[in-house]
Amino acid sequence: MTLSLRGRSKLDRRTARLIAPAVFLFIASLVFGCLLTVSAPPTGLNDRSEDSIAPLSTSVISIVRAKGTEVTVRKFSEDPSKFVEHSDAFTSSQMKEKFDTTIVRLLSQDSGQMKDIPPSHFSLNQPPVHDPNFSPSQAILFAATLTKSYFPRHHHLEPTSSTQHNMKLLLKAWHAFTKAQDMHWWIAHDQLLGWFWDAQTPPWSTYLSVQMSVLQLLQLQQFNGTLIDERFRVKVNPAFMLRDQKSPNPIDARFYDVKTGYMIDIEGLSVVRDGDEGRLGCKDGSVHAIQDLMPLHETVLDGVLVWRPRAALKILAQTYGEGILYDQRQNVGGVDYEWSERRHVWVDLD
Ligand SMILES: *[C@@H]1O[C@H](CO)[C@@H](O)[C@H](O)[C@H]1NC(C)=O
Repeated sequence: MTLSLRGRSKLDRRTARLIAPAVFLFIASLVFGCLLTVSAPPTGLNDRSEDSIAPLSTSVISIVRAKGTEVTVRKFSEDPSKFVEHSDAFTSSQMKEKFDTTIVRLLSQDSGQMKDIPPSHFSLNQPPVHDPNFSPSQAILFAATLTKSYFPRHHHLEPTSSTQHNMKLLLKAWHAFTKAQDMHWWIAHDQLLGWFWDAQTPPWSTYLSVQMSVLQLLQLQQFNGTLIDERFRVKVNPAFMLRDQKSPNPIDARFYDVKTGYMIDIEGLSVVRDGDEGRLGCKDGSVHAIQDLMPLHETVLDGVLVWRPRAALKILAQTYGEGILYDQRQNVGGVDYEWSERRHVWVDLD
């Protein structure tokens, strides 16, 4: 039976008698549902298990975007110095000495395109998403019950001879997917560091790191479990709306290559709790001023077009210490690497 109740439909008594029990049942089930939610947080956001997720063509999913808060992409203005970093953010003489030449070198890696993501995209208060299986408030309730990391450890803990090749494939796939879906993100951690030295992911890196806004995470959530090109899978942490700093769940989503096991760790950034719209935090405890991130600059990593934060050097120095920007010897995971001036690559000394 299909009931179509249009604007001014006149219900006679008989129809009313017929549908009254149905309406009652409907309301009763709603009330019961609410009681259940309050008394026992759900055991899973949606019980779609790993195996029951069929490969899905991403073109059938419609993404709902907030109106009037568009991401703007523009060409470098006539006054690029407005967006360039300043040497006073650094204290070491090594950094100050080579600062100007470094900036010139880095700008030559950029395409000149810039992108501004509005502060509203980092707010936790976002317009509802179009996934009937997903409710942000239930996600928060469920996530609060998680006491350990939702994601398993990385498959590849040490680099092998095929690591760089496989990670490049992964980056290309992610780039294609996010471009098709008009999603915005930027490189972070090892990828930002590698970009700084030679626009390549460093040889010690065994996974990729990117960051995005809360709004983007909500859009990505709509692809949770989706297999893309029969090879790459999106998985979103049910705790992604729970924005505790120093949480056991700092990774908000992952993008896996199911064939090789390599993956991208995706961290969301949200307005920090004091409500200051100018400061954005990840769940690993780091906080950045929005003007250090925006506008993003388009650049190249491993031959793929990516976006990087405006004050990339300052962010690297904050994360790893200034030495990371000039020390030509780095020890990572117990392995010594040396920067080769001649070949412009990091060489494994072991
Ligand atoms: C994504 O799907 C997995 C099941 O594959 C589920 O455990 C998880 O809670 C889902 N995440 C969100 C944010 O809905």
